Amino acid sequence: MEISLKQRTAFVCGAGSVGPGWGNGKATAVAMARAGASVVAVDINFAAAQETAGLIEAEGGACLAVQADATNSASVQSAVQIALDRFGSIDILQNVVGTTIMGGPIELSEEDWQKVLDINLKSAFLTCKHVLPVMLRQQRGVITNTSSLASIRYVGYPYTSYYAAKAGLNQLTQAVALQYAAQGIRCNAVMPGVMNTPLIHQQISAQYESEADMIRARDAVCPMGRMGTGWDIANASVFLASDQAQYITGVVLPVDGGISCRCM
Ligand SMILES: NC(=O)c1ccc[n+]([C@@H]2O[C@H](COP(=O)([O-])OP(=O)(O)OC[C@H]3O[C@@H](n4cnc5c(N)ncnc54)[C@H](O)[C@@H]3O)[C@@H](O)[C@H]2O)c1
Repeated sequence: MEISLKQRTAFVCGAGSVGPGWGNGKATAVAMARAGASVVAVDINFAAAQETAGLIEAEGGACLAVQADATNSASVQSAVQIALDRFGSIDILQNVVGTTIMGGPIELSEEDWQKVLDINLKSAFLTCKHVLPVMLRQQRGVITNTSSLASIRYVGYPYTSYYAAKAGLNQLTQAVALQYAAQGIRCNAVMPGVMNTPLIHQQISAQYESEADMIRARDAVCPMGRMGTGWDIANASVFLASDQAQYITGVVLPVDGGISCRCM
């Protein structure tokens, strides 16, 4: 079975990564380009988007780096227009933007609560708001959101706002899927489990004695004995975006090495 995204434009929101290595969005952008898609690499950090675009172009793919803040409607609208001006269509919307801030209701400031809700949830609302009209005109499109195991489980970290935001994203996914199912538009989510991406080194490692402790503990909690990588998310996302997944919509797909099947 050859999975091809040729003749498709993928708008990957959060296509950079917060540090060296492969985040979920960066790997997904590259994987989609390898499958033949033209990629719009959108990120608030322009240098990170440019790095992804450079990797794709070095392999002979087509990619346009665009700086945009996914929590700002005008910024998203402008990125969508830039994508259309360059490639003429948006066939795949991949929402990968996300962040964590530690704290329960007592510790977390209202500003930080709102920030996490905005980055993880409002961002997907805004990209859908501006890309869905394009997909409706095309009578075709696939949206894939990036959820988290934290949307359905308490995973041990005190990040109340992240649990709430990702749970909301699951239901947004299913609502969009059903509203547009008859119009050629599919909407799913990938649900990463415990992954080894640059984000954990920046945002999670303070929960442990050391980086090495974090890696050991996170590997140990996974049924396969190791964390997943950005490539696991990328491969699942390429499949969901492809015609091979044409009858799959409204799914929140665990990409977690089995961890969601058991109590942690
Ligand atoms: N790493 C894990 O263990 C894990 C587990 C479950 C879910 N996830 C989810 O996967 C997604 C990506 O995670 P990652 O580990 O690759 O993280 P990452 O931080 O490396 O990548 C996210 C990218 O989004 C960008 N971004 C942040 N705010 C933005 C904004 N307002 N507008 C545009 N771009 C913005 C960042 O600059 C970054 O390049 C997130 O949604 C995260 O919640 C990660």
